[in-house]
Amino acid sequence: MLKEKIVKIKQEALGAVEKAKNVEEILQLEIQFLGRKSDFVGILRQLKDVSAEEKREVGQLANSVKVEIQTLLEEKKKSLTSTFDAQAEKIDVTIPALKMRQGHLHPLTKIQNEIEDIFTSMGFEIADGPEVEDEFHNFDALNMPKDHPARDMQDTFWLKPQSDIAKTPTNAANKQHDTNKNTDARILLRTHTSNVQIRYMEKHQPPFRIIAPGRIYRNEAGDSTHEHTFHQFEALVVGDEINVGNFKFIAQEFFSKFFKKEIQIRIRPSFFPFTEPSFEFDISCTVCDGKGCSACKQAGWLEIGGAGMVNQNVFVAAGYPSGKYQGFAWGFGMERLAMMKYKIDDIRHFHSGDLRFIKQF
Ligand code: DAH
Repeated sequence: MLKEKIVKIKQEALGAVEKAKNVEEILQLEIQFLGRKSDFVGILRQLKDVSAEEKREVGQLANSVKVEIQTLLEEKKKSLTSTFDAQAEKIDVTIPALKMRQGHLHPLTKIQNEIEDIFTSMGFEIADGPEVEDEFHNFDALNMPKDHPARDMQDTFWLKPQSDIAKTPTNAANKQHDTNKNTDARILLRTHTSNVQIRYMEKHQPPFRIIAPGRIYRNEAGDSTHEHTFHQFEALVVGDEINVGNFKFIAQEFFSKFFKKEIQIRIRPSFFPFTEPSFEFDISCTVCDGKGCSACKQAGWLEIGGAGMVNQNVFVAAGYPSGKYQGFAWGFGMERLAMMKYKIDDIRHFHSGDLRFIKQF
């Protein structure tokens, strides 16, 4: 009698657990089938009234049924709490993958890397100098004394003198650790990379050949060919017998490699305080190879930048004896070069942060 009741309870329980839809229902079923007030426990209580033999048989059956129901409840509970949904997990391998956005180098960084590669392959060293510079390295040492009109060629961003900064309360304390510095030296944002000429020569002896790419600043209004912040790269080659022919050869080699075509160099007389003689130099038009087109305004030539033989006063300012060495130097804008190479019509694109521009490179 009791045995049949137990078997019936078991079947009911299995059916109910099977149908359960959530964890609450499972907990409910646990109470219903195995709880203190359940029929099952009621049957166990009746055991005391039956024969010893029946007690043993029914007891064994009750035990195994209890374990069976518990196991089933446990498994069902697990399957309901698991987030795995076999249906949703199906993967459709035919759906196109999401496009991965990948970053890349800025066009100017690319140009700079390219320039550096070409020059290192010709035995040049890459030199560097500070963007916040003193008046001596940016002007005086380059043969541009304070009252020299050539200073007006470059509009300068002057920075607050250190003595002024020192007067502010937060800096007054710091200044005490800094008593050796000449706080009256005027400081500025370098207006060209020519400061690196002096910085390098102060620490090195000829012969050497260097280039110095870097960021520079001019206090002037912007338009399609001018920005207050842009990049130049400087070249400086110094030795015993350096001459204009060396300049022309190196320039021709560089531009031919950079534009991947035969380039001619033309020099025109000019003036820079740090060179003597000084010249502006042009390259044959990269679009029409000198025949004349709209890119070169029919001239056949494109203006590149300034160059010249290093003025002996510059060597002296850097600590070399006068008349002992000769060298050539040049400096020009990197943006202009990038604009020529990639046919970019406005210098302001470079720092606009406009991704439509950046993504083209
Ligand atoms: N520093 C000059 C400028 O920014 C460019 C320049 C001209 C650099 C002649 C040179 C040079 O080294 O020889 O306008």
